[in-house]
Amino acid sequence: MSKRIYLSPPHMNGSEIGYIQQAFDENWIAPAGPNLTGFEAEMCEYNGIRCSVALSSGTAAMHLALRYIGITRGDVVFCSDLTLSGSCNPVIYEGAKLVFIDSQESSWNMSPVALEKALKAAKKRGTLPKAVIIVDLYGQSANYDKILPLCREYGVPVIEDAAEALGAEFNGRKCGTFGEISIFSFNGNKIITTSGGGMAVSDDAQAIEKIHFWANQAKEPANYYLHKELGFNYRMSNICAGIGRGQLRTLDERIARRKEINAFYIESFKSLPVTAAPVFEGSKPNYWLTVFTIDEGCEKTPDEIISALAADNIEARRAWNPMHSQPYYSDCEYFKENEDFSVSEHIFQRGICMPSGSQMTAEDLERVAKVFSSAFGK
Ligand SMILES: Cc1ncc(COP(=O)(O)O)c(C=O)c1O
Repeated sequence: MSKRIYLSPPHMNGSEIGYIQQAFDENWIAPAGPNLTGFEAEMCEYNGIRCSVALSSGTAAMHLALRYIGITRGDVVFCSDLTLSGSCNPVIYEGAKLVFIDSQESSWNMSPVALEKALKAAKKRGTLPKAVIIVDLYGQSANYDKILPLCREYGVPVIEDAAEALGAEFNGRKCGTFGEISIFSFNGNKIITTSGGGMAVSDDAQAIEKIHFWANQAKEPANYYLHKELGFNYRMSNICAGIGRGQLRTLDERIARRKEINAFYIESFKSLPVTAAPVFEGSKPNYWLTVFTIDEGCEKTPDEIISALAADNIEARRAWNPMHSQPYYSDCEYFKENEDFSVSEHIFQRGICMPSGSQMTAEDLERVAKVFSSAFGK
C-alpha cells in the first residue's frame, strides 16, 4: 500500500520541543506559565490585535465570546450556514436560538444580501439578533466591507470565527481582527496546531480579561475559593502553548506552501470539470484547504472521487454539510440570497476538500493529481 496522505496533518518544525522542554525544566506543567503568556503576546503581535487569551479549543473560545456579548436564554444569534458545528453549538449551550445565513458564491462566506434580508425580517418582528457569528471559511475572509456596516446599522455585534483563517487577510488586515471578539482554533488539522486548543482575541481588554477569568473557574481574587459567577475549565495548558509558540514561527512559510499546493492543483486540473473555491476580491487566503466543486453537467459525485482517492490511501473529504441541513438544527430559520437556490447546499453537494498539508512533497502532489484525474477518466 502506498504511503498515507492525510487531508491536513500537523506539521512540526522542530522548535516546538524546545518550548516543551523549557516547560518541563521549569515545571510549568499547568494551565499557567511563560509559554501561555508568550504565545498570547506573540499572537497579538502577529495579528495586530491588543489582547488574547489561549483556551482549550476554538469552541470554548466561541462559548465565552458569546457569554461576554451577553447571549442568554431566548436570544437570537445569526450564524454562517456553511461551517463546522463548533461555530454555532455554543449558542445552544446558552439556550439561545440560531438563524442561519447562506453563503455568497464569490467568497463561500456569509452573503451580505441574505444577511440584510434576515436583519430586515428580524427588525420587523422585533427580534433582532444579539450577535452575528461570521465564519472565514477554508482560510478566506468574509466580505467585511459589506457585513460590518450592515451590522453597525442594525446595532448588532459581530463575533468573527477565524478558526480556519489564521494568517489570512482582507484589505491588508488580518482575519481575527474584524469581530468585537474573534476566535481561532489550533486543532490538529489547522494551519498551525497546539494538538488541540483555541484563542479569543480582541482590542477590548475588558472582554479578554473577563474571558480569562471565566476560563479559569471564575475564581475571585481571594485567598480561599470564592465564586460569584459561573466558571469554566477552559484554559490552554502551558505545554500546548509551547507547541503553539514553535508553530507560530513558521506560520508564514506554511501559508506560502499551501498557496503553492493550491496553485499546483488548479494548474493540474485545468482540463477537468472542476472549479476551485473562488478567491474573493481584496482577500488574501491562508489556503488552509484547497476545495474544488464538480461542475454542473458532470455526473461524477464527490463520494466517487473521494473513494477513488481512498483506494490509493489518500484522504479527501466532503465540504462542510450546511447547518440548516443538520437534523439537530432542522427547525432553525435559514435565509438565502435567492429563494430557489442554496449556495451552501450546492457547495456541499459538489465540493471536495483536497489533501492540503504543508509537508506534502512534489511526489505526493503528483500522486494525488494522477488519481484525481483518472477518477474523472483523464
Ligand atoms: C469554522 C470553525 N469554527 C470552529 C471550530 C472549532 O474549533 P475547535 O475544534 O478548536 O473547537 C472549527 C474547527 O475545528 C472550525 O473549523
